[in-house]
Amino acid sequence: MKKIVVLVSGGGTNLGALIQAQKDGLIANGTISLVISSKPDAYALTRAEENGIPTVVVDRKAINNPDEFDRRIYEELEKAQADIIVLAGFMYILSSKITSKYAYKIINVHPALIPSFCGEGYYGLRVHKAALDYGVKLTGATVHFVNEVADGGPIILQKSVPVENGDTPETLQRRVMEQAEWIILPKAVSLLCEDKIEIIDGKVIVKE
Ligand code: GAR
Repeated sequence: MKKIVVLVSGGGTNLGALIQAQKDGLIANGTISLVISSKPDAYALTRAEENGIPTVVVDRKAINNPDEFDRRIYEELEKAQADIIVLAGFMYILSSKITSKYAYKIINVHPALIPSFCGEGYYGLRVHKAALDYGVKLTGATVHFVNEVADGGPIILQKSVPVENGDTPETLQRRVMEQAEWIILPKAVSLLCEDKIEIIDGKVIVKE
C-alpha cells in the first residue's frame, strides 16, 4: 500500500472527496496515512480525525518564517515515509528542496484550466474572480505534478465546467469543486497509486 500524505490549509472538501473515494474502494493500492495542516483551526483536520486519519499541524503563522516552515513540512514528510503527497487546498508553495526530493510524487489540484488563471497569487476564490473578470465561458480544474514552478508541473487530468450567467466567485467555486475537483483529484491519486502514469518528454501519459 502506498502511503498518501495530504497537505491542507482550509475546509478540506477535496480531502473529503479523497476519504470518500478511499471508503468506496476507488483508491486501490493506497491509503491516506497522514494529513498535514498549515492552520491549527482548519476544518480539514476535523474531517481527518472523524475518519481516524492521523494529523499534524505545521502552523505557518506561528512559525512565521518560510524556510523554517518548509523544513518542518519536509521533516514530517520524511517521518511519514510518504509515497504520494497531495496538495488539497494547501495555500503555500513548497521549496525546490521538497519538489526535487519528491519529483513526480507531489500532485496539486488547481481550480482552473491551467495555463489560465494560475501561478503565484492565484488561489482559492481569487482564481474564480479572475475567471469571471475575464469573462471566460468555460473554466474547470486541473490536477498536475508539482515542480519548482508555481502551477507549472506536468498536467495529469483536467475537466471543464461551464460559467453561468450571474455566477459569483462563490457559486463558480462550488460548481468547479462539485463537477471537477472532487472527481479528478481522487481519480489522479488512484492512477498514481496503481502506477498508471508515465512521463514521456515531460508530459503525462495515462495508461488506462
Ligand atoms: C480548492 O478549490 C482548491 O482547488 C483550491 O483551494 C480550494 C480548497 O478547498 N486550491 C488552490 O487554489 C491552490 N492554488 P478545500 O479546502 O475545500 O479542498
